[in-house]
Amino acid sequence: MTITEVHLITFSPTHTSRKVGEAITRGLGIKDVFIEDLTQPCDIHNKELPANALAVITAPVYGGHVAPLALQRMKEIRANHTPAIIAVVYGNRAYEHALQELDTFIGSLGFQAIAGGTFIGEHSYSNKNHPIAEGRPDEEDLAYAEIFGQKVRTKIEKAADRDHLYGIDVKRIQRPHQPFFPLLRFLHRVTKFRKSGGTIPRTPQVDERLCTHCGACVKHCPTGAITKGNECNTHAERCIRCCACVKICPQKARTFDTPFSAMLSDCFQRPKENRIIL
Ligand SMILES: Cc1cc2nc3c(=O)[nH]c(=O)nc-3n(C[C@H](O)[C@H](O)[C@H](O)COP(=O)(O)O)c2cc1C
Ligand code: SF4
Ligand code: SF4
Repeated sequence: MTITEVHLITFSPTHTSRKVGEAITRGLGIKDVFIEDLTQPCDIHNKELPANALAVITAPVYGGHVAPLALQRMKEIRANHTPAIIAVVYGNRAYEHALQELDTFIGSLGFQAIAGGTFIGEHSYSNKNHPIAEGRPDEEDLAYAEIFGQKVRTKIEKAADRDHLYGIDVKRIQRPHQPFFPLLRFLHRVTKFRKSGGTIPRTPQVDERLCTHCGACVKHCPTGAITKGNECNTHAERCIRCCACVKICPQKARTFDTPFSAMLSDCFQRPKENRIIL
């Protein structure tokens, strides 16, 4: 069967999910590509994808789930048995049930997953002192994502028509290797932290001496939690702790100091593998 257009649907505050989606899309080699980047509030009310379309849907994992705001913004899109490639991007700890969750959710919108992937992206809480999957997706990851796209294209071309383009059972995707003792160490440290009454900051902190009020954080915040002219304050009730503002700040004025950075950096050092199913 022939697909004439691809819609890349993504939510990606620190750009890793978008990069993975773009690489998969490149691999598909289909000329007409439309990008629906849902990271910023956008006006896509009741958007319906055409029957000849293929969707590539990528989103980050937050706390073992698909980032809630990604799902909330995707709700506005409608499909009509439209084939989709779905991928979740996570920071080298675990994606838990996120891929299944995304599969079920896009099914409710009218998509059918024909391929799935779990990819590694630099953790939002990664920093110079505590790197977590720093620089990922790297060239190798993106080459893998592109080959994934090529494989899906072959799958589509082999199908005689839409009815022969079979869906996938995402539960059957291979999980990445997780060494036992580092995981145990992590769980132990989290338990100790919680028992000691430890909390994590509600928002990133700002060093007022470094801020030049350039407005980059305002522009990149997906929830409007930072106001132009008042960049040193953050609306805690709007902040989803995505760290887009931290990573984009040219002055390094914004930091998100959570003890989880050190814990994750120490316990999940071994790079995990990307996985696909189709
Ligand atoms: C609030 C929050 C929760 C996260 N939870 C997880 C998690 O459960 N497992 C994991 O491996 N990474 C987790 N991460 C890391 C992100 O999944 C990872 O950095 C991802 O690449 C971010 O995607 P983006 O660049 O598209 O924003 C979390 C990040 C944030 C901000
Ligand atoms: S991006 Fe950094 S320097 Fe620019 S306004 Fe925001 S905090 Fe200030
Ligand atoms: S203020 Fe909060 S929601 Fe906005 S970019 Fe920074 S971490 Fe993300």
